[in-house]
Amino acid sequence: MNVRTAPSDTRFAMRERMAMYNDNALKIGLFGANCSSGRAVTMVPERWTGSWEDNLKLARLADEAGIEFMLPVGRWKGYGGDTDYMGTSLETITWATGLLASTKRLIAFGTVHAPLFHPLIAAKQFVTADQASEGRFGLNIVVGWNEDEFQMFGVTQREHEARYDYAQEWIEAVKLAWGPQDDFDYDGRFIKLKKVRAKPKPFGGTRPLIMNAGASPTGRTFAIRNCDAFFTQASRTSMDETAQTVKAAKDDAKAQGRELDVYAVGVVTCRPTRKEAEEYYHYATIENADWSAVDGILGKKNISVATVGEEEFQRQRHHYAHGLGGLLMVGDPDQIAKQLAELSRAGLRGIGFSFVNYLNELPYFCDEVLPRLERMGIRAKRKA
Ligand SMILES: Cc1cc2nc3c(=O)[nH]c(=O)nc-3n(C[C@H](O)[C@H](O)[C@H](O)COP(=O)(O)O)c2cc1C
Repeated sequence: MNVRTAPSDTRFAMRERMAMYNDNALKIGLFGANCSSGRAVTMVPERWTGSWEDNLKLARLADEAGIEFMLPVGRWKGYGGDTDYMGTSLETITWATGLLASTKRLIAFGTVHAPLFHPLIAAKQFVTADQASEGRFGLNIVVGWNEDEFQMFGVTQREHEARYDYAQEWIEAVKLAWGPQDDFDYDGRFIKLKKVRAKPKPFGGTRPLIMNAGASPTGRTFAIRNCDAFFTQASRTSMDETAQTVKAAKDDAKAQGRELDVYAVGVVTCRPTRKEAEEYYHYATIENADWSAVDGILGKKNISVATVGEEEFQRQRHHYAHGLGGLLMVGDPDQIAKQLAELSRAGLRGIGFSFVNYLNELPYFCDEVLPRLERMGIRAKRKA
């Protein structure tokens, strides 16, 4: 692990300042801890609270263990159901700033809906988080997907392509505010800024890492053009397919003179034996799934028996109950380590995953899976 030791006024190269660019071939992050239940749509009593207290404990634990990042979900309204899934959520920029102030190494992302935040206010919030953490803030740009969240703000969602046209202007304005010029104008189709003055700048003369997880061709193009990291779905059935997805994104970025790291998301259930892991998975996400919340999520995405047929509907229901579609990782430490190593060999730079209860499950993962990854050469040996 590269721990930065230079004083805060040194001008770092971006690659030197980021935990995301340390020696570990596969970066590991925790995804979704800022929301109640995280990414497990379950009713089990040990489900994740999403409270500040638990997030703080988790971040400190993760930081000590060498986990590289924490990625929150930008959620303003829960999905209802018996648990009001994700109904309690901490705002992500302030969440990140608080966690960064209490940790030493990891990157905390803000997941920011471009249409809901004025770009100059957002840019200054990012700078503040980045300064407070000496360069450990990251930005996940999202354009929005839940209509009723936008209604809360009195903001109408644009049609899909225009969301990314708007996001393009938004990120250009943010980057200008971060850039070397203190004063600038911006005259876009959507965003018009006059006589802007933007000081201070991000920490160390560089800028925060930017990621996006667009799944559509337009979203992917946006990520390739503007971002350092692209989060995509790893195939649930074929590592070759994942390798092709990764290579295609990296090649397309290279063709534009850009370097892009590709990440995936997943859900881990790791227990001493495969049987125990499978039993817990079954208990938490099948027997005790919050099916009414799952059906609400599917309804928002227009996935129903009528639109996709019975078989596909049932497949999607199970898919969404567990991690809203992330890669399933259920097994003993050997199996989980092997799966992570295969993802690394497929070209992924990292993975952000969740647990049913992050605080209960992370210590076992760190004790058993991380040393295996070190022995496999996927992660560098941690210093004592
Ligand atoms: C890792 C990951 C994190 C995401 N986080 C959020 C989020 O917090 N809030 C949100 O509204 N959308 C989130 N999304 C949705 C994506 O930003 C994107 O809108 C979605 O994948 C659909 O792709 P499209 O916008 O290209 O159609 C996330 C998706 C992934 C895979």
